[in-house]
Amino acid sequence: MSSSAFLCLKTNEYLPIFILFYIINACQAWLPDTSTKLMNSANKISSISFRGNGSNIPDHFTVLYQDKDSILLGGRNRIYNLSIYDFSERKNSEIFWPSSEAHSQLCNLKGKNEDECQNYIRLLFFTSPGKLLVCGTNSFKPLCRNYAHKNGLFIAENESDGIGICPYDPNHNSTAIYSSGHLFSATVADFSGGDPLIYRDPFRTELSDLKHLNAPNFVSSITHGEYIYFFFRETAVEFMNCGKIIYSRVARVCKHDKGGPHQSRSKWTTFTKARLNCSVPGEYPFYFDEIQSTSAIIERKYGESSTKIIYGALTTPDNAIGGSAICVFQMSDIEEAFRGPFKHQESINANWLPVPDNKVPEPRPGECVRDSRILPDANVNFIKTHPLMERAVPSYQGRPILIRVSLNYRFTGIAVDPQVRTVNDKTYDVIYIGTDDGKILKVVNIASEQSSKAFVISENEIFPRGTPIKQLAIAPGYGKVIAVSKAETKLVTLNHCKSTATCNECIELRDPHCAWDQLKNLCVSVDMATSLRYLIQDIKRGDASRCKISTNEKVPRKEIDDDNTIPSNSIEEEPNSNAKELTLQVENRSDFDECNNDINSDVKTGCSQIKKSEFTSGTLWWGIVIAAMIGLFVGFAGGYCVSRKFYMQYNNAPFIEQHNHLDRLNVNQNSFLARPTKTVNLDVLNVSSDTLQPKKDNLGSLKNLNITNEGTLQKIKKTYI
Ligand SMILES: *[C@@H]1O[C@H](CO)[C@@H](O)[C@H](O)[C@H]1NC(C)=O
Ligand SMILES: *[C@@H]1O[C@H](CO)[C@@H](O)[C@H](O)[C@H]1NC(C)=O
Ligand SMILES: *[C@@H]1O[C@H](CO)[C@@H](O)[C@H](O)[C@H]1NC(C)=O
Repeated sequence: MSSSAFLCLKTNEYLPIFILFYIINACQAWLPDTSTKLMNSANKISSISFRGNGSNIPDHFTVLYQDKDSILLGGRNRIYNLSIYDFSERKNSEIFWPSSEAHSQLCNLKGKNEDECQNYIRLLFFTSPGKLLVCGTNSFKPLCRNYAHKNGLFIAENESDGIGICPYDPNHNSTAIYSSGHLFSATVADFSGGDPLIYRDPFRTELSDLKHLNAPNFVSSITHGEYIYFFFRETAVEFMNCGKIIYSRVARVCKHDKGGPHQSRSKWTTFTKARLNCSVPGEYPFYFDEIQSTSAIIERKYGESSTKIIYGALTTPDNAIGGSAICVFQMSDIEEAFRGPFKHQESINANWLPVPDNKVPEPRPGECVRDSRILPDANVNFIKTHPLMERAVPSYQGRPILIRVSLNYRFTGIAVDPQVRTVNDKTYDVIYIGTDDGKILKVVNIASEQSSKAFVISENEIFPRGTPIKQLAIAPGYGKVIAVSKAETKLVTLNHCKSTATCNECIELRDPHCAWDQLKNLCVSVDMATSLRYLIQDIKRGDASRCKISTNEKVPRKEIDDDNTIPSNSIEEEPNSNAKELTLQVENRSDFDECNNDINSDVKTGCSQIKKSEFTSGTLWWGIVIAAMIGLFVGFAGGYCVSRKFYMQYNNAPFIEQHNHLDRLNVNQNSFLARPTKTVNLDVLNVSSDTLQPKKDNLGSLKNLNITNEGTLQKIKKTYI
């Protein structure tokens, strides 16, 4: 016992070192991305700021709703209606809804401060045309209101209890979605935040059952098919080693769940959940276990086929070295995990094992059925005790599309401008990633069926250092993003086309929003272009060789394709080459790739399949010239291969900087290792799993009374009632 405790202690003390080791180990297979094309400081970015009512008290902003012309922003006692184009405030169609005097006094008596005893608006849904449901924290006594919406004006109609729908505390990570005439929420249903639940009146997850929810932080909710999916992170019950660990999950319930028979009338009969696996593969996979944010569902086209995916931003734990990743999950893989075996633990210390098929009752638990009230008890009991699926949801292609290791920031939010069309009719997802350090990364997903990769276009300082970005949303116009922090919301323009001066810079930016206009000699935003005819782009490779084509012989866009076809690789890119004029047609790009794969083998033979330019043979003189040319070329190709190898490894190193790649390798690794170690909290061990659990069903007991749990508060209540 003591020896195992000792081992625990050791493992935890050395956790950062282990993690470093794992990352380095993983690096051999997959290097964290280090390069960014553009670094923009705050003064280089045009943005419009909104700070609520001008006071310094944080509004706890949240984007509640967005349409093509306005956004509704939830704040302190208010819902702001802002123009999505210029953030101008429409004061007329603003909702002002403070807590009543009685509620805020009660809140003060419960020991909360002035700032907490306000009504922070967290949810807003159009339940039918012209009808709104709005919920707020209401001084730690969640409350909902129905509003009628006429000509941009809101008229309050009636109020209803918000417990189980809206959090008590604006800092709580909750989510909700309105679908098929019902509100589905994932939040906490008690004052202290100890009763997490997924709720749709009257169904809820089991109270105080760690198998159902264990100190979750909810991230997002989406509707897909017959189910509502919830993304969150929670303490993993199935983790059997010492200490505790947080896993990312996706849970789902059937939209038309009608509850169970008899005493399970107010319980879900379809609540199941699975782990999300965002990891770098290897002998010891390196996991990014804490989901922070997801995008909406995106329909992505790969050639002929299309697939529904969701992007997730996941990180390492707070006390580890800051690692963040973007993983893509396919909806079909999520569904597959829910079709797989359930996880089962025989007794409290037994291992978690898959339930054999013959032990799973019929009809299969967790699936939508016509009327769940007539399900057999065996079925309902099974799902109650086995909500966890055995298999984790793999990320698309089994690895993240982007990894960042940084001591300065972690990813916090994600928003995707889906399927941006290039001038060649290709589509790419542009991803915006918010960090806890006030930055937004603009990234393009250049993954194809064969490879998974993303390219970081720019890193932009939006908020002062140390201000986490809580939420991101896409606004109309290429590069327009809404960034939300606790006390400030900004409409930011991350369109970098104008900031590049030359064709090379424009193409190498690889931003699907930008293209080089050969007529105007300008880098233009594609959504502003009147014609695509003279625009060039190369998102996939950022190959600027087409810029060399003189403007007199402008190439109509048909001939320009940034995919599939093979660009002419001109030696002109090699600055010191004597063979400047020699242009070689490369038969197949994979020739290069092949030789890149094996640097140790004879580079010359490995790369020799590259087609030689044609020549007329005959004279000895010509023979010598050509031999010299070939010699030159082989030398170049060898050099090219070596540099490509490092180029591939170091991903985004600009091609021109071929020299000193070996030095770069050393510098990179050294600096990676030699960074000052952050002070890390080593007290993981001390956290015991017996977190505060309420003994009562707060939903039920709090429905009628204001407060019942807190004994001391009984008196307060009496003074008020
Ligand atoms: C926001 O304000 C505009 C202008 O007053 C109004 O037309 C629009 O309906 C409002 N949006 C919402 C969602 O209330
Ligand atoms: C909510 O999530 C944020 C970001 O991950 C985290 O910093 C914060 O502590 C969470 N809030 C609560 C109440 O756990
Ligand atoms: C997660 O994915 C990695 C790589 O695809 C795999 O090696 C690992 O076994 C998976 N882990 C789980 C828990 O499924």
